Amino acid sequence: MGRIKLHDKEFDIYLSEETIQQKVRDLAAAINKDYADKHPLFIAILNGSFMFAADLFKHLTIPAEISFIKLASYKGMKSSGQVITAIGLDVELHGRDVIIVEDIVDTGKTLHNFLPKLQHHQPASLRIASLLNKPEATQFPLDIAYTGFVIPDKFVVGYGLDYDGLGRNLKEIYQLAGA
Ligand code: IMP
Repeated sequence: MGRIKLHDKEFDIYLSEETIQQKVRDLAAAINKDYADKHPLFIAILNGSFMFAADLFKHLTIPAEISFIKLASYKGMKSSGQVITAIGLDVELHGRDVIIVEDIVDTGKTLHNFLPKLQHHQPASLRIASLLNKPEATQFPLDIAYTGFVIPDKFVVGYGLDYDGLGRNLKEIYQLAGA
């Protein structure tokens, strides 16, 4: 199916199921190699990363653990702005090799605000794995250790990512038509 409609907007196919699955296998292979003698803890950020996290995890051959968290942001009392809280972060991070699993890094703001909170727990190491990265949209530069696809600054849906709640179930990734 080349074009789909979600709510009021049309989207064109951008990354096929096979293209995504091959990339996920490649990312898992890289992680298996880099963490060969380790026992990493994956922290997947909901909702968007659920599908990527599940597929990535299936291809890991090292001993690995996974925990899912949800981030909530609210305006702090001070002018410093956004405060991020993690819901469901119930695993001890101290001394662990942590890999954050994200669906997409857009402006980078979410992780930029959240990483210091994780660092506070003194993990042995902390890396980011993101299926998608939109470098043209970057406002808060991040060091992303594992990137699936570098994509243009256009809205995408599918494979866990949504447009106003819809599209997460798609096996492919679609791009906003005519954007
Ligand atoms: P950031 O804080 O700007 O990097 O935004 C990250 C979050 O925004 C992602 O985890 C997604 O939930 C959402 N997001 C950013 N771009 C897109 C997109 O193109 N499609 C769907 N969700 C997106």
